[in-house]
Amino acid sequence: MTETGNPPAAEDKASAPVIPFVSGARPAGEGGHFEEFCAHPAYFLMRAYRECGELAEFDMGGINTVLMVGPQAHEAVFRADDINVSAREAYQFMVPIFGKGIQYGAPIDIERQQLRMHSRGLASERMNHYAPVIAKETREWIANWGDSGEMDFYEGFADLTIKTSTHCLLGSEFRYSLTEEFASLYHTLGAAADAGGLQDPNAQKSAYHARDLARARLEELITERVTLRRAGGEVHPDLLQIYMDATYADGKHLSTSEIAGMIVWFMFAGHHTSANTAAWVLVELARNPELANEVVAEIDATMAASADGFDMKTLRRMALTEGFIRETLRVHPPLNTLTRRVVEDFHYKGHIIPRGKNVMLCPYVAHRLEEQFPHAEQFDPHRPNPDNPFALIPFGGGQRKCVGNAFAMLQVKVIFAILLSEYEFELAGPPGTYAEIMPSLILRPSDPCILRYRKRR
Ligand code: HEM
Repeated sequence: MTETGNPPAAEDKASAPVIPFVSGARPAGEGGHFEEFCAHPAYFLMRAYRECGELAEFDMGGINTVLMVGPQAHEAVFRADDINVSAREAYQFMVPIFGKGIQYGAPIDIERQQLRMHSRGLASERMNHYAPVIAKETREWIANWGDSGEMDFYEGFADLTIKTSTHCLLGSEFRYSLTEEFASLYHTLGAAADAGGLQDPNAQKSAYHARDLARARLEELITERVTLRRAGGEVHPDLLQIYMDATYADGKHLSTSEIAGMIVWFMFAGHHTSANTAAWVLVELARNPELANEVVAEIDATMAASADGFDMKTLRRMALTEGFIRETLRVHPPLNTLTRRVVEDFHYKGHIIPRGKNVMLCPYVAHRLEEQFPHAEQFDPHRPNPDNPFALIPFGGGQRKCVGNAFAMLQVKVIFAILLSEYEFELAGPPGTYAEIMPSLILRPSDPCILRYRKRR
C-alpha cells in the first residue's frame, strides 16, 4: 500500500529516488550484512543510520531490509495497512514457538480476537488487582537478603518477574507449581528466537528441534494446570480465566492447546522485556546516585502518605519514578528490531520500497535522535515526553502497539517502590562493565550484572 493510498504508476518507480545502501556488505549470496547485524543489531542499525540517514537499505543475508528512522517514518509504518506492511509475514518464525492456531499461525481475524482477549486481562482497570500481588512477591524475594550482599540482578529480576507475572496473570496455583523444568523449557524456547528467524523462518537448526520438544512439554504442563482449575470450578480474576471463558465470534471456546499458546505468547512478549527493564533501572539508579536520592525521596513521601498500600492512586503520584523507568526504556529499549514484510509496494516520501523486502524500525536509534531528545546521551528522568507520539517507541505503536505496556510499567514501578524503601544499591564493578549486549533480538545488560545492596538505615 502507498503512503497516500494511490496505486504506483510505472514511471513513478523509475523516477523514485534510490535508497542508500549501507557499506561493508559481503557479496550477495555470501551473507551481505547478516554477520555484522547479528553481532549487535542495535549498533549495526546505528551505524546504518549515521551513514545513510532516514532510510538505509541493507542485506540481511538474502532478504533486503530498509531501516526507517524518525517519527515520520515510524508513523508511516505504524499507520500502514497491517496486511500490506505485515508483521505476520515478517515474524512467521514465531509460529512454532507459540503454536499453530495462535497469533501469526492463525487466520488474521482469529489473531485479532486473540489480541482482544490479551487486552482484556491487561487493561488498566485490572491493575488495582495486580499491584498488591507484585508487592507481595517482591517482599518475599527480599525477605532473606539480610543487611547486605551482592547479586546478579539480571538473573534475579528474570526469576522475580516470572513469579510476579504468573501469579498476577495465571493465578496462585499456577505460580506455586512453577518448577525448574518450566523455567528451563521456557529458556529453550527463547534460545530459538534469534535474528536467523527474520532471515529464514524455515531454516532447520538443532535449536529448532529442542524448541519443538520444549513447546510440546510446556503444553503438557500448562494443560495439567488448566484441567485442575476447571475441575476446581472456582472463578479467578486473571488472564487465564479470561482465556478459559472467552469465546470466538462463532461461539467456540479456545482449546487447551490454544490456551497454552496464548500463555507462551504473552510470557514470551512480556517476561524478558520486563526483567531487562528492571535490571537497567537498577544499573541507572546506581550510576546516578543523586537522581536515585530524588526517586527514593518521592517513594518515601508517597508511601508515607498512603494508607492503602499499592493502589493505582498511590502509584500515579510517583511521577519521577515513572519518569525514571521511561527514561530507562528510552536509553535501553529491550526490543529493537520491529520488522514488517512489505507485501504491496510501500511508498514513503517519494521512495518506493518494493514488495518482498522488509522494513525495520529501531527504538535504540530512534531514541538517540538529537532533534527529538536534546542531549540524547544524557540520562535525564525529568526529560519531558517529546511532542510527537511516534518519537518515543519502546512499546511500538499503531495497531501492533504492546498490549502489556500498562502491566509492564506497573510491575517495574511496584518492584522499585519496595526495593528502594528497604535497600540502597551500588555497582559492584566499574561502570563500563555494565555493557549493552544483544545476543538475541533483545537488548540486555552484559552478564553477570552484579550489584551490591545494603539495608537502609
Ligand atoms: C518493558 C516491557 C515491554 C516492552 C519494552 C515491550 C515492547 C513491545 C513492543 C515494541 C511490541 C511491538 C512489536 C512490534 O511492533 O513488532 C510489543 C508487542 C507485544 N507485547 Fe510487549 N513489551 C513489554 C512488556 C509486555 C508485557 C508485560 C506483555 C504481556 C503481559 C506484553 C505483551 C505483548 C504482546 C502480546 C505483543 C504483541 C502485540 C501484537 O502482536 O499486536 N509486552 N511489546
